[in-house]
This record gives sequence, C-alpha cells and structure tokens, in this order.
Amino acid sequence: MSESPSQGSAPYGGAAAAASRKPMTLHRLRSMHEAGEKIAMLTAYDAASAALLEDCGVDCLLVGDSLGMVMQGHASTLPVSLEQMSYHVGCVARGAPRSWVLADLPFGSYQADVAQAVRSAAALMQAGAQMVKLEGGGWTPPVVAALVERGIPVCAHLGLTPQSVHALGGYRIQGRDEQGARTLLRQARELGQAGAAMLVLELVPSDLAAQLSVEFPGMTIGIGAGARTHGQVLVLHDMLDITLGPKPRFVRNFMLGAGSMRAAVLAYVRDVKSGAFPDEALHGYAA
Ligand code: KIV
Repeated sequence: MSESPSQGSAPYGGAAAAASRKPMTLHRLRSMHEAGEKIAMLTAYDAASAALLEDCGVDCLLVGDSLGMVMQGHASTLPVSLEQMSYHVGCVARGAPRSWVLADLPFGSYQADVAQAVRSAAALMQAGAQMVKLEGGGWTPPVVAALVERGIPVCAHLGLTPQSVHALGGYRIQGRDEQGARTLLRQARELGQAGAAMLVLELVPSDLAAQLSVEFPGMTIGIGAGARTHGQVLVLHDMLDITLGPKPRFVRNFMLGAGSMRAAVLAYVRDVKSGAFPDEALHGYAA
C-alpha cells in the first residue's frame, strides 16, 4: 500500500484533510475520548517526520526522551538534557503546527522540587509544547498540581517508567503482583485528582491497564499495555522497524507490506482507531 498526499486517505490523512483540519486542542482530545474514539499517538523528534505524522492524522505527537536512545544512541533516556528536549520540541512544533505536541520532562529536570519542575516545564512550553509529561507516582501529584495550577497541561506516566530503569531492574512488566497493582491504582487516582489530563501506561498487564483506565478520570494511552486503554503510543522508529537494538515484543512492524513510511503511519492510525492494534493475544499481555 502506498499513498501520496493528493490521493488522500480520508478520514485519516492526506494533505487536503490535514489542511482543513483544525489545530488539535485538549478540548478536542477530551471530546474524542468522551465519544469513545481511540487516540493515536506516536513519538516525533524532527520537523519532517512531524509534518508527515500530522498529515496522516496522528492525534498527538510525543517528543519523548526516548530520543536519547533513538536519535543519540544512548543505552537509556537518562542522559537527555532539558536543552536537547527543547531543541527537538521546537523542531516538531515547527513541522506540525496543528498537532498536539507533548514533551517529556527529562530526568533531573523536575525531581528536585516544584520550582525546578515549573521552570523546566515552562522551557518546554516556550519551545512549542502544549503539554508536558512526567514519570512516576507517589511524590509527583504535588508537582502535577503546581503545573496544572499554572496553566500547563500534564500527562503522567506509570508502569515501566524508563527514567527509573536502574531502580526497576530493567525494562520489565510492572504491576504483576497484587501489591504492585494496588500501588498503581492508587497512584493513578492521585494523579487524576492532582489534575493530570492524560496518563501513559507502559508495560502493565492488560487487565490492570483496563482497571487503571476506569480509575483515572482522564485519557489513558497504552504502550505494551493491551487494547483497553483510551489510546495507543509507539516509538516511531520501533513501528518503522528501524530500532537500534532489540525491539520490544509488543511492537508491530507497520512497514511490513506498507511500501512507504506514509503508508505505515496511515495503517497505524487506522488500526489504533479501529482497535485492530494492539492485538492482545499476539502480544501476550492479557492476564
Ligand atoms: O520517551 C518516550 O518515547 C515515551 C514513550 C515510550 C511513551 O515515554
């Protein structure tokens, strides 16, 4: 399958569709969520890819600190700096001016105290983000509340939180035992009460992700968390099968048979929207 923008691919892509598309807003995302429409998110780090993703109808572009691994070749996300994140946020925001761009607060830019988190989030917003993402629960709700009070939309991130990879003992499924599951449920509730509008759930069992999606008052976006979240996210390079090193088991290679990056991204959006991706049975995260 290969498509040019002018051929269009209604309802999820094509230059004409993109040109007529209004800028994505938190209000529109909430309306989609309330209407039961799945939210399609992909990572983006550069202007050209961001423009293509916007053109294909990807709802949200995540400037993830995964760029440390994908773009910079590091073994983890930990070395990424706030300056580097701001640079990539600017690239993506210029390439995809109608997209909802959320950006990771990198490791070390929000852990010290609320004032540091507000300063770092402001830098990402000034670079072009519309929302910031931060990892973890327990200690993070006061940070989330402070950002939300200051007009900064927040996406939380629970489950496998890559910035804590050394504490977690590797890239492992989280919340498998009862106590771990109870902790995640409590943390999701607290983050929702603090005002987080979105919650990324990474590598948690599918049944738990479904429960978390009920507990959390906003939108849940899964990655390796089964099909019952309100949306899905993948690292762009993983779904294009150009990952450095081993690829996570839950990733589908959308380039297989696609013929072009555009066709692969269109297929991703189509499959997330229809529920054809992810396949719980295939990926083995159903409890
Ligand atoms: O950094 C990132 O790309 C992420 C996704 C894996 C959710 O946080």
